[in-house]
Amino acid sequence: MRKQRKFDDDDFSVADDPSFEKFLDQPDTWDENPDGPDTGDRWSTWDLSSPTERGPLPHPEWVVTELAAVDIERGMLKTGKEADVFLVSREVPGTEIGVLMAAKRYRDAEHRMFHRDAGYLEGRRVRESRVMRAMTSRSAFGKEAIAGQWAGAEFGALCSLWEAAASLGAPAFTPYPVQILGTEILMEFIGTPDGVAAPRLAALRTEDADLLDLWEQLVLGLRILARTGYAHGDLSPYNILVHEGRLVVIDLPQIVDIVANPNGRKFLARDVHNVLTWFQARGLSGVDENAIVDELAAEAGLR
Ligand SMILES: Nc1ncnc2c1ncn2[C@@H]1O[C@H](COP(=O)(O)OP(=O)(O)OP(=O)(O)O)[C@@H](O)[C@H]1O
Ligand SMILES: [Mg+2]
Repeated sequence: MRKQRKFDDDDFSVADDPSFEKFLDQPDTWDENPDGPDTGDRWSTWDLSSPTERGPLPHPEWVVTELAAVDIERGMLKTGKEADVFLVSREVPGTEIGVLMAAKRYRDAEHRMFHRDAGYLEGRRVRESRVMRAMTSRSAFGKEAIAGQWAGAEFGALCSLWEAAASLGAPAFTPYPVQILGTEILMEFIGTPDGVAAPRLAALRTEDADLLDLWEQLVLGLRILARTGYAHGDLSPYNILVHEGRLVVIDLPQIVDIVANPNGRKFLARDVHNVLTWFQARGLSGVDENAIVDELAAEAGLR
């Protein structure tokens, strides 16, 4: 409950209030966040998300669901074109319970670049036609709607892909989505327990890496994506993390419905080309690029 502010009361007189001096001594503690916890930056936001705004069931055992948990900001991981990614820990004070998560926070309309919006939105179903009209007209409301759509789209993609991998008995190749709240997605942190993020494929020290194994993990991931009906749409060595030999695909707000999008096949082919070029430049050989694209298109049901 928010503390009642005495200043709101017209009849209030400072001289009448014995607590006023105490208040003057501690202006910061009064003014800061009267609803906040004693430790941490905010109460865990877990219970603010509805069941559909939480990741797929069963939640992995590391997900912290305790109402007594707090969220602590551990710094920024990276600032990107459309979003900033932060490291957040969610802990129950006084216990051993705690986990690191990546918090991807989409920027509001004025601080984002909209270069990706036009082509990707084709073929994407938007339920309210008023929203669709605003999005195509690029009004202020439309820009806000688009910003919210991206966070929702990425969360939805992460949920679908997690479930698709699980239902096929395949290892997850995307971070587990913990929850979405407005324009913030909290997801599995890919990195070490002390908060060092996994390198992107682009920055991987390839002398220590098993390139063929990474390529095979990637193709398996792309096959699951395609079977779910999608191409990543922005796949590159910058949107793939490698943590202790495990390949993880990230940055999925723009996933493309291969069949519904008139350029579905082009997006798919570009994804494959972008990553295969990287692998081939580092010595991978014997991969037929067109055959992979054909196979993925067929997996998605494209004729
Ligand atoms: N789950 C995660 N675990 C660890 N690091 C992450 C995670 N998600 C994102 N990052 C880091 O944050 C960076 C930006 O994330 P992402 O690509 O999703 O956002 P973006 O706004 O599209 O950024 P960019 O414009 O650079 O593509 C990643 O390259 C990665 O270094
Ligand atoms: Mg990215």
